[in-house]
Amino acid sequence: MSDSPRPKVFVTRRIPAAGLDRIVAACDADVWPDRLPPPADVLRDRVRDCEGLVSLLTDRVDAAVLAAAPRLKVVSNFAVGVNNVDLAAATARGIPVGNTPGVLTDATADIAVTLLLAAARRLGESAADAKAGRWLTWEPTGWLGRDLVGKTVGIVGMGRIGFATARRLHHGWGMRVLYTARGPKPEADADLGARRVDLDTLLAESDFVSVHADLNPTTTRLFGREAFAKMKPTAVFVNTARGGHVDQAALAEALRAGTIFAAGLDVTDPEPLPPDHELYSLPNCVIAPHVASATVGTRDAMARMCADNLLAGLAGRPLPFCVNPEAEANRR
Ligand code: DGY
Repeated sequence: MSDSPRPKVFVTRRIPAAGLDRIVAACDADVWPDRLPPPADVLRDRVRDCEGLVSLLTDRVDAAVLAAAPRLKVVSNFAVGVNNVDLAAATARGIPVGNTPGVLTDATADIAVTLLLAAARRLGESAADAKAGRWLTWEPTGWLGRDLVGKTVGIVGMGRIGFATARRLHHGWGMRVLYTARGPKPEADADLGARRVDLDTLLAESDFVSVHADLNPTTTRLFGREAFAKMKPTAVFVNTARGGHVDQAALAEALRAGTIFAAGLDVTDPEPLPPDHELYSLPNCVIAPHVASATVGTRDAMARMCADNLLAGLAGRPLPFCVNPEAEANRR
């Protein structure tokens, strides 16, 4: 595996035993014990003489962290999203970066649909009213929401999770599916009768808009005042991808002014969203604390993949799930 039989690795949080036990058995593992992430200077310090790093989406693995760890052979990110890792810097240093695609697709699509339903049917608001004693009687016009059957969903980013969300909505509620994607998605077109359109068309024609794109410079703050103004006043906006896609001040304004009907968010920027943030005060905004992959089975599967990636990288083998395979060429 390396000069030393038990390579030194830093694991930035306790991940499920399904992966952690294998890491601890095979490595000299320093496992950060706290519930909160290690501060940036601590991360740089702890990784200094490590060959492996297990990071979470809450850890910024930037050029400074990579430069502080001259022996680092692999970064195994416990997430499918890798926007917390400076991929260009990792590639330049010949460090492969692993992620956990596929295993959280269903759990995330389930949360997208849950948020869509909760926002469309005003579940957060009506449940809070019931608890607070504002449920006075059965009201013919109380808490009226939006129907789903036969409506149109716009999927922004038709990758695995976008497709799984669209399948649920098309086969479950008979929704028409529009999508944006970098290229055509014949599977979506065939299975869902989906149509690839430009973003403006999607925003104008969709009753529900669900975001599943990667966060990168072209998608950062894609949803700002202009985008919300192009949506229907009856539209529901759902984001289970990354908070950075959204200009939250513009979203709050759109929700307050009735530019759109409601929103369901599993991700915000920053995370956690401070409890006094305006979005929490809006009855038509449902916010979950980034729980899309939070099922026992999914997190176990992520932990297994994370261990597989780490151990492969330490042994100098290609990672089973690598986001920058071109790093191999620069390996030292
Ligand atoms: C990921 O893996 O990128 C998800 O956001 C975790 O829920």
